[in-house]
Amino acid sequence: MKKAIVLLACAGCSNASAPASRHPEAQPEARPGSASPLAEAVKDERDRMHQRLNAIRGISNAIALSDLPKAQSEAKTLVAIEDPAVLPQWQPFLARIRIAAIDVVQAKDIAAASTSAVALGALCGSCHQTVSGHASFAVDEPPPAGKTLADQMLSHQWAAARMWDGLLGPSDERWVQGAQALSTIHIDVAERKLTLEVWTNRVRELAKTAVNKPAGDGRSALFGELLNACAGCHSVIRDR
Ligand code: HEC
Ligand code: HEC
Repeated sequence: MKKAIVLLACAGCSNASAPASRHPEAQPEARPGSASPLAEAVKDERDRMHQRLNAIRGISNAIALSDLPKAQSEAKTLVAIEDPAVLPQWQPFLARIRIAAIDVVQAKDIAAASTSAVALGALCGSCHQTVSGHASFAVDEPPPAGKTLADQMLSHQWAAARMWDGLLGPSDERWVQGAQALSTIHIDVAERKLTLEVWTNRVRELAKTAVNKPAGDGRSALFGELLNACAGCHSVIRDR
């Protein structure tokens, strides 16, 4: 197991930064055959962090597809995540997360949802940075580069998700990895006989700018514009 989550207010938490599962003998209250309360609390906290990650990835995917109701329902999931055992000093961070998620729930349109979502993501990143430098997330392998539009779109989704990880971690490496990938993927929409180049170019241009964008609010704002550009093309196609 990697580093324990150090947010918890429970017995023995002064030692919470040590990997609990490797020191079962340090938990005298543990019953034989069951995990110690601390190990269980840490596992629950980790599960909740993964629920947050799933929800916030769902939010950005839905915004990119211009699906406001879906983005709002993912945001509701995030609002509902409770943290009963967390230390009092972390409560304000989690309260701000909930407020930012409520902004997504109440967004009137995709642009507003996108602005609120990147503000939410920045809060995840800033807590991770404050508490432990950064949180790291497992990544799926990039999908194979393909010639069909469906393949190209999976690559877009993968690259945008890496940029999102870069903000949530925060992680410079992930941000640059996603931006670089996104700056080179083609979109073959010629057969659609629509003037979509404006959107293709917009995505490409933003991705290129992103590669050299220093960490900070500028990255969040740029990611918001990127989601709007994905959403822009998808809504044109849907409304044609
Ligand atoms: C109150 C501070 C705080 C907030 C707010 C917060 N996190 Fe975390 N998160 C942590 C800490 C601490 C860790 C453990 C980091 C480490 O590995 O050292 C963590 C770890 C994680 C992990 C990795 C869990 C694992 O497997 O170890 C994920 C995923 C995650 N957070 C997602 C999120 C997302 C998404 C948000 C925003 C919606 C968020 N977190 C908001 C403090 C926070
Ligand atoms: C130039 C237009 C254009 C741009 C820009 C664009 N897409 Fe797409 N996307 C499409 C088209 C066309 C489809 C297929 C829709 C269809 O066949 O109905 C699609 C489909 C998708 C799908 C599959 C949707 C589904 O329902 O399975 C995903 C995921 C996706 N795009 C992600 C993205 C992301 C993320 C971005 C931005 C980084 C993006 N796209 C930018 C044109 C675009």
